[in-house]
Amino acid sequence: MRKPIIVGNWKMNKTIAEATAFIKEVDPVCHDGATYGVGTSFLALQDAIKNAKNLIIAAENCHFEDSGAFTGEVSVPMLEEIGVKYCIIGHSERRQMFGDSDETVNKKAKRLIKAGITPILCIGETEAQYDAKETESVIRSQLSGSLADLCPECVKGIVIAYEPIWAIGTGKSATKEDAQKCCHIVRDQIEKMYGKEAADAVRIQYGGSVKPENIVEYMACEDIDGALIGGASLKADSFKEIIEKTK
Ligand code: PGA
Repeated sequence: MRKPIIVGNWKMNKTIAEATAFIKEVDPVCHDGATYGVGTSFLALQDAIKNAKNLIIAAENCHFEDSGAFTGEVSVPMLEEIGVKYCIIGHSERRQMFGDSDETVNKKAKRLIKAGITPILCIGETEAQYDAKETESVIRSQLSGSLADLCPECVKGIVIAYEPIWAIGTGKSATKEDAQKCCHIVRDQIEKMYGKEAADAVRIQYGGSVKPENIVEYMACEDIDGALIGGASLKADSFKEIIEKTK
């Protein structure tokens, strides 16, 4: 049985004070129906970890090197030191605006796994790739690059977020049929690379305009084990509604 995992991705939103207020309000309503969490700015991580009893707190990025001349970056040992247990990597905004590639995402995944931090690895096609019917080949190639040279045992613990880029922040969410089909392709690709046991264990999220109104239909899909949620995770009320609807 895969335990569902629903994570808010706050992106570059919320000061430390705002993050604290959200966590104090939302943390008490979490329940065992799923693992719930939020991805915060690097600055808010420490306080968030201190304030959260139930929510898991994720970093939104990391560097793959431990230290060195990488101005403005944060390394995995730095995250480890403050007790971070999850880290989003390869989000499409990072791939599109900050040069993240399957190769660097793969290095980040390896370094996180070595530290015992769970990667939440994001993949997904652009609108042009969707229109050109390249979704399946994009998913397979992103996974074969980002998950290269890992051990099957390590892959079991990873979370994959399938997020079609055209659905992110647009209100134009994928149909549940499309989302299920793509998450099934993700699982199939993992089976091809690391075997059935790893594929059955890995948790796959759908992301892209998930909100209280559509969370239930995604969660009912066989290969969808959760969601990565941007906009609808910023307001405590809407995140609480999502928690309530996934009991
Ligand atoms: P959205 O963002 O829910 O606002 O579409 C999802 C994401 O970027 O992970």
